[in-house]
Amino acid sequence: MEIVVSGIRPTGNLHLGNYFGAIKNFIKMQKENKCYFFIADYHSLTTHPTPNDLHGNVKQVLVEYLAAGLDPDISTIYIQSDVPEIVELYLLLNMNAYLGELERCTSFKEKVRKHPENVNAGLLTYPTLMAADVIIHKASKVPVGKDQEQNLEMMRTFARRFNRIYKTDFFPIPSAYNFGKALVKIPGLNGVGKMGKSEEEGNALFLADNEKVIRKKVMRAVTDSGPIEMNQEKPEPIKNLFTLLEVVSSPDVVAHFNELYNKCEIRYGDLKKQLAEDMVEFCHPFKEKIEELSKNNNYLRKVVKMGAEKARESASKTIKEVREIIGFKEF
Ligand code: TRP
Repeated sequence: MEIVVSGIRPTGNLHLGNYFGAIKNFIKMQKENKCYFFIADYHSLTTHPTPNDLHGNVKQVLVEYLAAGLDPDISTIYIQSDVPEIVELYLLLNMNAYLGELERCTSFKEKVRKHPENVNAGLLTYPTLMAADVIIHKASKVPVGKDQEQNLEMMRTFARRFNRIYKTDFFPIPSAYNFGKALVKIPGLNGVGKMGKSEEEGNALFLADNEKVIRKKVMRAVTDSGPIEMNQEKPEPIKNLFTLLEVVSSPDVVAHFNELYNKCEIRYGDLKKQLAEDMVEFCHPFKEKIEELSKNNNYLRKVVKMGAEKARESASKTIKEVREIIGFKEF
């Protein structure tokens, strides 16, 4: 039983890659640990969303994560900006975060390269805000993907530094929550790489996609001209289609198409038709749930309020002690 914190960026719809790569594991993780899931709306301000977009994006990810199975009764699910204690800790951590180390972070350098017109202080101090997000609950575990490893390293640095400066072991040093083998990599539909990595239209299948869109995307998936040798190894686009089949279809369907492939008798059109139908069936309950939750603002308000209360209870306890450690004293 660990304390786990995970931040969710309020951008983009959930796709199958998110579901099998992370969320499915979150659902299991929340049953075995004390989990805090929050929507990182402060972080998203670095890219200056409009007020409507900000709210819309937060609502959308909240709805989709709830639809996918995050459970507000066992986890603490909240909006980052509902917990002002995080901002206070962020300020305090910034006093011991150095320009050089922040400038050296690869994600910062990447942003500078891509958007030289918008190199703001929020971007620079993104890692301190992330550290505050996690250590505000004195968490020991953070489920992070490859792209967040350096941010995790920075959290560790800031937590350690605080402990060292104030000669305490107040903050646990967070480490990666490892899903190990449970982590399934879902490929995209354009033949190469992971789902969601490419911006290409139709590369990702979203949980909120309707039947027509799912069928269209699957039928357009990249294939090749077919196997030429019995039992040959599958090239990437074909291997990818089989990976998708494996996550949504029954084992005998997978075995059936494998056999046809191995005998060089496969017709990709048939495979895609089956995949499309199974995909539609797989996504349907999510889509229904997403639509139902989107209309239920009362319920969402309740979830977010309860989450904020639970999160603030833990956060205010930490901040109170941090203030004492630092030396803020009452007269
Ligand atoms: N930076 C993370 C991302 O881009 C989101 C995030 C913000 C986060 N704060 C966090 C993740 C704290 C884990 C812990 O996906």
